[in-house]
Amino acid sequence: MPKITVVGSISTDFVVETEKRPSMGETVEGKTFSTSFGGKGANQAVAAARLGGVTHMLGAVGQDPFGYELLNNLKHNHVFVSGVERVTHSSGSAFITLFERDNSIIYVPGANGEYSPDKLEACIENQSVIQESDLVMVQNETPDETVRKLIEKCHELHVPLLLNPAPARELDQALIEKVSFITPNETEFDVLFPGQKREDVLRRYPNKLIITLGSKGATYFDGETVQTVPSLKVENVVDTTGAGDTFNGAFAFAFASGLSIKDSIQFANIAAGLSIQKVGAQTGAPTLEEMKEHEHFEKAWNFK
Ligand code: RIB
Repeated sequence: MPKITVVGSISTDFVVETEKRPSMGETVEGKTFSTSFGGKGANQAVAAARLGGVTHMLGAVGQDPFGYELLNNLKHNHVFVSGVERVTHSSGSAFITLFERDNSIIYVPGANGEYSPDKLEACIENQSVIQESDLVMVQNETPDETVRKLIEKCHELHVPLLLNPAPARELDQALIEKVSFITPNETEFDVLFPGQKREDVLRRYPNKLIITLGSKGATYFDGETVQTVPSLKVENVVDTTGAGDTFNGAFAFAFASGLSIKDSIQFANIAAGLSIQKVGAQTGAPTLEEMKEHEHFEKAWNFK
C-alpha cells in the first residue's frame, strides 16, 4: 500500500445549518448545530487512510480537550500521529455555515499556526516519514514559511509533493516548479494566476496543474489536450464540506498506488461524490471496499 504523508491542519468544525444567511447586524434562527472532525490536512489524511494508504500526519494540536479528541480521531482512522505536536495554543477550529447546499468557512488556525519550519525540520531529522513517502501532501492552513520549507525539502529529497493551495494565497513560480501536483479550485486558481486564461496556464503546467471544478469535475493538460474528467452526478447532496479534501486524499492514494493521472482523477471524483452524501468533512470519505462497489469503479484499477 502506498505511503502518504500529510503536513497540515487538524481542527474541530463547528457547523451551523441555516435557511437564511444573516446580514450585518441581523440575528437569524439556525436549523441545526453540530461539531465534527475537520481541518483540511486531517480530512485529506483520513481520506487516504480509509482507502488503505499508510498515512502519517505532521502538524500540531493544542493541549486542550479538543487536541486530545482530534488525535484520537486520527488514530481511530489508522493515521499515524507520531509527527503531531501538542503545543500551548488552543487547537485549530473552523466555523462553518451550511446554506443552500453549499458552505462558507471561517478558519481559526490556533495550534496549526504553530507548526513552524523548525518543527518540520526537526521531524525530518528525527523521523524518516517524509523521506520514505511515496507522496507528500500539504495545504495552506499551515504557516506559509512551513509550506515553503516543505516544498524545498521534498524537492531536495526527490519526494513527490502535492500542494492543495487552500485557502488561496500567492505563490512564486519558482516554487510551483518544484511541486509535482498543484490542485486549486476555481477561486484559488484566480488568486494564484490573476488575470490569466485558464487554458494558457493549464498548458504551462502539463500533468501538474489540476483545477477542481466542483460539480463539473476536474481539468488538467496531459501534454497534448486539455482533459476534463467529469464528477459523479449526485442527486442527494447532503454536505459538500471537505469534498475537495476527499478528492485530494483519494487522488494521492490512487496516484501513489500506480494509477495514471486521468484514472486517479476519475477515482478521486467518485470518492468526492460519495463523501458529499453524508454530514461532516470526514464522515463520508469512503473505504476502498465502498469504492469497489460503485458502478463507476473500473475493474482494471488494480490496488494490491
Ligand atoms: O475543507 C474543509 C475544511 O476546511 C473543514 O473541515 C474545516 O476545518 C476547514 O478549515
